[in-house]
Amino acid sequence: MKISRREAMRIATLSMATGAVIPDLACTQARPEPRLLTSQAKLPPRFSVPLPVPTVLKPVNASADTDHYEMSVRPASLRILPGLETEIWGYEGQFPGPTIEGRTGRRVSLRLRNQLPVPLVHHLHGGHTPPESDGYPTDLLTPAAGFTNSHMHDPRANTAAMEREYVYPNLQRPATLWYHDHRMDFTGAQVWRGMVGLYILRDDREDRLPLPRDGREIPLVICDRSFASDGSFLYPSLDKSLRSPGIESSYMGGVLGDAIMVNGAPWPKLEVSNTCYRFRILNASNARRYELALEPAAGSGHAFIQIGSDGGLLEAPQNRRTIRIAPAERVDLIVDFSRYAVGSTVILTNREGSGSAASVMQFQVTRSEKDPCTVPAKLSEPPLLDVRAATVTRDFDFRYQRSSRVWTINGREFDPARIDAYPKLGSTEIWRLRSDFNHPVHLHLVQFRVLSHGGPPEASDAGWKDTLDLEPGVAAEILVRFTDYRGRYVFHCHNLEHEDMMMMGNFEVV
Ligand code: C2O
Ligand code: CU
Ligand code: CU
Repeated sequence: MKISRREAMRIATLSMATGAVIPDLACTQARPEPRLLTSQAKLPPRFSVPLPVPTVLKPVNASADTDHYEMSVRPASLRILPGLETEIWGYEGQFPGPTIEGRTGRRVSLRLRNQLPVPLVHHLHGGHTPPESDGYPTDLLTPAAGFTNSHMHDPRANTAAMEREYVYPNLQRPATLWYHDHRMDFTGAQVWRGMVGLYILRDDREDRLPLPRDGREIPLVICDRSFASDGSFLYPSLDKSLRSPGIESSYMGGVLGDAIMVNGAPWPKLEVSNTCYRFRILNASNARRYELALEPAAGSGHAFIQIGSDGGLLEAPQNRRTIRIAPAERVDLIVDFSRYAVGSTVILTNREGSGSAASVMQFQVTRSEKDPCTVPAKLSEPPLLDVRAATVTRDFDFRYQRSSRVWTINGREFDPARIDAYPKLGSTEIWRLRSDFNHPVHLHLVQFRVLSHGGPPEASDAGWKDTLDLEPGVAAEILVRFTDYRGRYVFHCHNLEHEDMMMMGNFEVV
């Protein structure tokens, strides 16, 4: 029997609503909020395990202009909680996956092998990537030839079996990018199982800046997870084998975990010297937003010096007391531990979270080191984009549709066959975004500038962005230029449960 994806979703939602337990959503028809999924396993004490740092992937070979990498995506059993094993689905069997380090202007070719029982889609988030390598949600990499997804139909899908090459030209500013699964309808479940990793682009100019490096430049991939009593990841998929789509309808507002993980470890600790550190922070959570702060605060000063965002270094450093970070956003920060006495402990807290989600990790200032911290007053010269160059203005309204009980853009559900915008190659546009709720809106292919955000742009909107967190009832305008590649791309809410529940649209650069 062939049923449409839309029907499959509806059946999934209905079967929940007519089950023995009637979800509150079905009664009230209210807009579903993100919802906490409580772990059944005993969670470990905070700040007891050292912070792991993802390994850096080595190229299998390099030619004059290209570094060649290979990875397989496979199930693996990891010890995340004491005494228990957790099955993850990870790049190279790791969670998070290995970090790919690229150079601006030098191509990366990635050969990916799918050793999972189900299809995957590989996307480089923030990448300025030609469409055939971008990971369109139906461009499946299936585990075997002949694997079909009966609920999904897209004549333009470009699928491959077992192995596939992705090419990243890296013709873009150095930045903290990341890769993750993007399989249509299953992104939330597959990312939750572990399919995320960092992709860091550097260039000579940035290398010459006197910023902390090596052991004092540390990525922090923050995400929340919940665990079943046997140690496995809990996630409310209707079909745990991830062959048919849908999650329990009471979680369609977003799944929140109660264990806060950094680089795959729950509430880790890191020993630091009393010097400056550079932290590249990614919020890889499905639906959780954080407001990061340091406790205790160091004297009267600011906690963080922000030097970069999604699209690379800011023009100038900015002092920040707290940092708000929505799913998929990145911030590049300097923390100056010389303001703390050796022997002190500092907690990275989350002011958006309560209970177990109120803290993220701990720093222990254990040793004294000489390092006069100098953050250059000028970090980069981001290319200017003139608002007067904009020739087209488009409106997109992100909201929950009560009648169909899914998340929509301009009242419509995601459909690979419908293109919502045809920007011209080389043109600049203004996109006006509105929302009913918290929606971190992300565009593929581009980095954009925030023109307004419920008023003038906020501190967190500085620099080049690929994801903008829209608050309930707030409108924002972004300035975006479509360059280099023609083709079909998606834009969507990066709350992954909203994304899987239809909050995605298409633009085609023509
Ligand atoms: Cu993080 Cu469609 O992407
Ligand atoms: Cu993306
Ligand atoms: Cu959303």
